[in-house]
Amino acid sequence: MPIPKAELHLHIEGTLEPELAFALAERNGVELPYADTEALREAYRFEDLQSFLNLYYELMAVLRTERDFEDLADAYLARAAAQGVRHAEIFFDPQAHLARGLSMGTVVEGLGRALDRAEADHGVSTRLILCFLRDESAESALATLDAARPYLDRITGVGLDSAEVGHPPAKFREVYEVAAALGLRRVAHAGEEGPPEYITEALDVLGVERVDHGLRCMESAELVERLVRERVPLTLCPLSNVRLRAVDVLADHPLAAMLDAGLVCTVNSDDPAYFGGYVGDNFDAVRSALGLSEGRLRELARNSFLASFLDDDEARRARYLSEVEAYEF
Ligand code: HPA
Ligand code: ZN
Repeated sequence: MPIPKAELHLHIEGTLEPELAFALAERNGVELPYADTEALREAYRFEDLQSFLNLYYELMAVLRTERDFEDLADAYLARAAAQGVRHAEIFFDPQAHLARGLSMGTVVEGLGRALDRAEADHGVSTRLILCFLRDESAESALATLDAARPYLDRITGVGLDSAEVGHPPAKFREVYEVAAALGLRRVAHAGEEGPPEYITEALDVLGVERVDHGLRCMESAELVERLVRERVPLTLCPLSNVRLRAVDVLADHPLAAMLDAGLVCTVNSDDPAYFGGYVGDNFDAVRSALGLSEGRLRELARNSFLASFLDDDEARRARYLSEVEAYEF
């Protein structure tokens, strides 16, 4: 059995495997511009974040009904559980679906149906994090949060994703203030392709409690020192970074140096259907490419629960943490 872990950086739309994409396309009468799953997999060669996002948004066309979102989430939870995930904080991108004519209710209730069964079916506790698309306007983000108001009992926090460069965190100051006033937790992608200044801005202007990716903090000694001092968790996604060319090869990934620097790192899968592996695969890959010790792997698993939004269930967090300490490699 793999080491118990929490997954904190996972876009549910990024778990759409080619087989499920074709099955849903058939069920919904949607035509995909690929002959078969093999032809689709051929398209999984990305130059950067944008080239991935183009395909990611295109394939969302197959998601039409509550049942589609339920099936998508259920498939992810089964795979995640098999790789040792005990707790998952799941991002979703409602703006991309609202723009296609779906309702917030279709998306949230559909995901919710799978999440309601996740503990019983897969032994995984879950949270949902609504992400704003940063290449859309601040007004659109505010309207999206408004549309989510009837569903806030199902939503733990807000995040910020999509094309980073040119869309600094400060653009979303107001919607993050509204989210905070609603009692929502706050995270944001920063420092994936964008500069270290975006990480600082996410902390100072948006008040984020975790930074998604945060890889480029390593370009600023001052920022690293702050992140260490304030114990700000970073949700790293090593296989994603290789596929989207944030790093050339896994052996060059700064994760080991980041841990050595005292940063609170976690390892996650981002968009596992597209990047060649789920979270356990990411653990295995960094273990072999970077030669991480068992102590470091245990630290990563421990960090994942410490950084999770389980503050409303400390008994559960303690149970998960004791599973990590008791784990035998
Ligand atoms: N980065 C930014 N936005 C995203 C990603 C990512 O890796 N995956 C899905 N949306
Ligand atoms: Zn991401």
